[in-house]
Amino acid sequence: MQAGSVLSAASDDARFLRLERLTKRFDDVAAVDGISIDIPKGQIFALLGSSGCGKSTLLRMLAGFETPTEGHILLEGVDIATMPAYERPINMMFQSYALFPHMTVWDNVAFGLRRQRVAAVQIAERVEKMLGLVQLKPFAKRKPHQLSGGQQQRVALARSLALEPRLLLLDEPLGALDRKLREQTQFELQTIIKNVGVTCVMVTHDQEEAMTMADRIAIMSKGQFLQVGSPTEIYETPNCRFVADFIGKANLFAGVLETDAADHCIVATPSGRFLVGHGITGVTGMELCVAVRPEEISLAHVPPEDPDCNYLRGQVLERAYFGSSSLYRIKLDSGERLQVSIASTERHAELLEIGAQVHATFDPDSIVVLTA
Ligand SMILES: Nc1ncnc2c1ncn2[C@@H]1O[C@H](COP(=O)(O)OP(=O)(O)O)[C@@H](O)[C@H]1O
Ligand SMILES: [Mg+2]
Repeated sequence: MQAGSVLSAASDDARFLRLERLTKRFDDVAAVDGISIDIPKGQIFALLGSSGCGKSTLLRMLAGFETPTEGHILLEGVDIATMPAYERPINMMFQSYALFPHMTVWDNVAFGLRRQRVAAVQIAERVEKMLGLVQLKPFAKRKPHQLSGGQQQRVALARSLALEPRLLLLDEPLGALDRKLREQTQFELQTIIKNVGVTCVMVTHDQEEAMTMADRIAIMSKGQFLQVGSPTEIYETPNCRFVADFIGKANLFAGVLETDAADHCIVATPSGRFLVGHGITGVTGMELCVAVRPEEISLAHVPPEDPDCNYLRGQVLERAYFGSSSLYRIKLDSGERLQVSIASTERHAELLEIGAQVHATFDPDSIVVLTA
């Protein structure tokens, strides 16, 4: 019996938050279009997509600020789709985190608890705990304007967490911070959320933010999830052109499947034939696309010795120096463009000159074949 109950607790945790065919239409446009997903307890789940793809609408349905047109939102097995926002054990932290300017940090964190008429002793306990968590105890008596942007962000998080929500929602949590502070705060917020163990759904259009903070990312487009996976899965094995192109940089070549075997396949493209280090169980002649990341490509002044390797010839059009790496834009003999990133630690003494003739090679295992 005991084994059974442990098992069922584990599967309950795996579907802590379950969305079933969740849909929101505004007039005839589906802002969120039939999304189903299970989000396990304790996970940081990021919705990533460009402006207008439906991220905020999805989050607002979770918070209770929008009513779904169709579908269900199950939190620990209870359908909350039509429950009023204030009854949900959920807290949302907004982009403009709007601390009360005339209140101290301490009072800002206590605000929600006072409104819920929690006993004073408990409020004090909870606020102290939260301020410790976000490492702002020494700043308890300050007003928001006496804090840095990152510290203000942590006060807002403490205020959200003080209510001990079952689910924490973050809409563009770091949108108000400048780049440098943002990077640091990403790590801080992630650490705090993980320490508390609260399940979190966050919205961002910034892929670095999603990759840094989230356990799992959903790439959204036109109200749907195109791919859901860990940051590594999304980057290394994108499942379609949109995702390959959206996450990081990718060289995409359209072509047709020429050979398909168990351990390799060959794709013919206008720029050349590419050997891929795995089969795809496709149909010979089918149209598809291959993707190669800029950092997977090597450049040389001379052609490769191995005549069978993946090889492209071209001319350096442009280069951008980023300190840790340089990005080259190359015009291939076929007319197509190639982006190549060379780490500064790997590059030879001098940078490749604009106009130089170069020979690009890449490994069969570095290619991702996309059929959608
Ligand atoms: N209240 C609304 N009324 C009508 N259309 C809306 C409303 N809210 C959002 N939309 C539309 O739904 C789509 C998704 O919007 P939104 O969820 O805000 O996207 P995101 O947060 O990803 O930028 C957009 O086309 C937007 O114009
Ligand atoms: Mg939005």
